[in-house]
Amino acid sequence: MTQVTTQKMTQDELKAMVGRAATEYVQPRSVIGVGTGSTVNCFIDALAAMPQRVKAAVSSSEQSSERLRRHGIEVVDANSVSALAVYIDGADEIDHAGNMIKGGGAALTREKIVADLAGRFVCIADASKLVTVLGRFPLPVEVIPMAAAQVARLLRGLGGEPALRAGVVTDNGCHIIDVRGLSITDPAAMEREINQWPGVVSVGIFARNKAGVCLLGTPQGVRTLAF
Ligand code: 5RP
Repeated sequence: MTQVTTQKMTQDELKAMVGRAATEYVQPRSVIGVGTGSTVNCFIDALAAMPQRVKAAVSSSEQSSERLRRHGIEVVDANSVSALAVYIDGADEIDHAGNMIKGGGAALTREKIVADLAGRFVCIADASKLVTVLGRFPLPVEVIPMAAAQVARLLRGLGGEPALRAGVVTDNGCHIIDVRGLSITDPAAMEREINQWPGVVSVGIFARNKAGVCLLGTPQGVRTLAF
C-alpha cells in the first residue's frame, strides 16, 4: 500500500490519489480505454501530466472525450481499434470479487463496450464504494424509451423498485431506470437475465466485464485489490 502522511483526506483527495496511481498501469504511447465520472476526471488530469504521453484514448462518454481533448489527448473511435491493453474507470459499487455496479453517470453502455475491448479493467474508487453485496446503490438500466414501462414491470418482478431517471437522455438517446432494493447475490446471473429483455440496451452490473484490479483510495493510502 502507498503510504500517505495526511490522516484526514477528503473524498476529492482520495479520488485524486487513485487517479494518479492508475497512471502506473498505462504504457507510454499505448492506446487506452477511459471511463467516465469524477474519479476518472482525476485520472485524465494525471494522464495529461505524464512525461510520456499515451498515443490516444477510446472514451466512454462525450464528457470524458471533451476533457481528454482539452488536455491535447487524441480520442479515437472504438471501431478503429481491435483491442486495448487497459481500461481505467470508476464504479458506484464494487464487491470483493471485482463485480461492479456502474452507470451513476449514465454512461454504462459505452463503458461496457470499451471495457469489453480491454484486456484489463482497472477500477479506481474511494473506499466507500467497496461492498459485500451489490445493490445498495440503485442499479441503472439503460432502456430504449418505448420499452421503459415493460422493463420497469419486469424489474419489479425481481423485487426491485424501479424509477425513471428524470430529465436524463443518454449519449445513445436512451433513458435510464434506477432500481432500488435489489440484493445482487449472483451478479453474473442477474446481468444475463436483465440483458436479454427486449428494449434493454444494457444493465449496470459489470460481472462479465468485472475489474481485474481495483485501486481503492483509503486515508492510509492506495489499497490494491487484485481479482
Ligand atoms: C458513470 C459511472 C462512474 O464510473 C461511476 O458513476 C462512478 O463515478 P464517480 O467516480 O463520479 O463516483 O459508472 O456511468
